[in-house]
Amino acid sequence: MRGCIMRVVLSSDHAAIGLRQAVAAHVAERGHVVEDIGPITTESTHYPDHGAAAARKVAAGEADLGIVLCGTGQGIMMAANKVRGVRCGVCSDTFSAAMIREHNDANMLALGARVIGEGLALDIVDAFLTTGFGGGRHAVRVDMIKALES
Ligand code: RB5
Repeated sequence: MRGCIMRVVLSSDHAAIGLRQAVAAHVAERGHVVEDIGPITTESTHYPDHGAAAARKVAAGEADLGIVLCGTGQGIMMAANKVRGVRCGVCSDTFSAAMIREHNDANMLALGARVIGEGLALDIVDAFLTTGFGGGRHAVRVDMIKALES
């Protein structure tokens, strides 16, 4: 993945708009194609809708990777993972962000805006975007996850 230009879709609920916009700017600065699907107002909204909207774009192949954010990252991650073909993990550290790519072939990352600060969030995003899937024994296990969907 390092060096590849990717299409990255972002969404959040109201609790994470500021961090989402910072992440969107950061990802664009890294040279990737960003699709930020909102929302743009801080009016209270529902994280399942936004998680599903980004996840559907990843599942449909309209984006290579997705980044979704809510207060904890947990709710929007749960919603995203209900979409077939999506593997989304919440990360609050850079090691996990690299591992969900390398071992789990995660195609979405969830962040909690009430859990981590912007600096750490951007480092986590970098780890996620620059790590590739390891394949091999990990592919066997990811295939087992995929089999659970059928
Ligand atoms: C919204 O208050 C909050 O519940 C949401 O952002 C998220 O943390 C849910 O998992």
